[in-house]
Amino acid sequence: MLVTANKKRVHLIVLAAAIVFGTSLPGQSETGDISVTAVSGESWIRHLHRSFADTSMGRTWNLGPSPADPGKDVTSWQLDLPASFPAPVITLHGSDLYRMTCQGCHKESGQGAPPEINSVIDPVRATSVAVTTARMKASGREMSSAEIAAMAKESKAMLLQRLHVGGKHMLPPTLSETEILSLFAYLEQLAGIPGAEKNQITVKESSYRVGEHIVKSTCHVCHSATGPNPSPDQILKGAIPPLSVLTTRVSLSGFVRKVTSGAPINMGSPSTYYRGHMSVFSYLSQEEAASAYLYLIRYPPRP
Ligand code: HEC
Ligand code: HEC
Repeated sequence: MLVTANKKRVHLIVLAAAIVFGTSLPGQSETGDISVTAVSGESWIRHLHRSFADTSMGRTWNLGPSPADPGKDVTSWQLDLPASFPAPVITLHGSDLYRMTCQGCHKESGQGAPPEINSVIDPVRATSVAVTTARMKASGREMSSAEIAAMAKESKAMLLQRLHVGGKHMLPPTLSETEILSLFAYLEQLAGIPGAEKNQITVKESSYRVGEHIVKSTCHVCHSATGPNPSPDQILKGAIPPLSVLTTRVSLSGFVRKVTSGAPINMGSPSTYYRGHMSVFSYLSQEEAASAYLYLIRYPPRP
């Protein structure tokens, strides 16, 4: 018990130091082509004029728990960050980039939620000459290898274009060239392209960059960057608090808990604790969620 309490205190001290001496943690990763910037603008669902109730975006996961006792936020939850947090350099695999920037909409499998969110699998398979050749053979269509190569090349150009700028209804990813290579290799593995496991590439990044990925590609789907802090009554009526107020509404521990295992929220008047509507991102680690908190403090959201 004492050990846990001490461990927790150490984290808070480290965190405070990281915030005060923010520059001692590199915002620049070793890949050299990344600079971290603040999140800005309205949420993606608001941008699309889509209401929270009729979109699957950002909510391909489960809902949070309901309060253990009616109306009360009774918790046995414990913040448990590794002693190394916040790490100046984190090694990310393409699968990590996928989790942080794609999974909130496309699910772990890549299947998405059609018809609103298309599957990534077929567009990725179409970039492979081997897969396309096999497909043509199976369907009995005659095609020269030059034609197949041209088709695969075009599919790859389309996919790369999307990884740079997003789609009509897909938010623009925030990926550097190196990250795109790493993610692309993972997408090939996810889509079952033969030999893809051998081509995986890692990237080295800071905690801030990790936080930026999560906030810009996952949280910003529903949460606008700035705006007024909603009252419990407005929350009951469906208001989603902006990113700029989250770090004052909840503590580091409350934030990490809300993201990784879900937490009831105070709403209504007279206000009391209810099960919220936010999905639980149980595929994000506590350390990753804490990085998002750190990022929001160090790079305050802009209008
Ligand atoms: C905010 C939700 C959201 C996020 C996050 C997101 N996507 Fe999408 N994606 C969509 C939607 C919606 C579509 C279909 C409409 C469109 O193309 O804009 C789509 C379509 C796609 C397609 C094309 C499917 C086809 O049929 O051609 C691919 C490939 C894709 N996404 C890959 C990704 C990857 C890789 C990531 C992570 C970097 C990602 N998406 C992140 C919402 C999202
Ligand atoms: C699918 C939409 C959606 C996404 C994506 C989303 N949120 Fe939320 N969030 C909500 C809604 C709705 C509320 C208010 C009601 C509730 O708690 O469910 C909320 C509330 C919160 C709160 C306030 C808790 C309180 O007690 O005041 C925090 C903190 C939070 N979200 C953090 C995050 C973080 C961090 C992310 C990204 C990892 C994220 N959210 C992604 C919809 C979303």
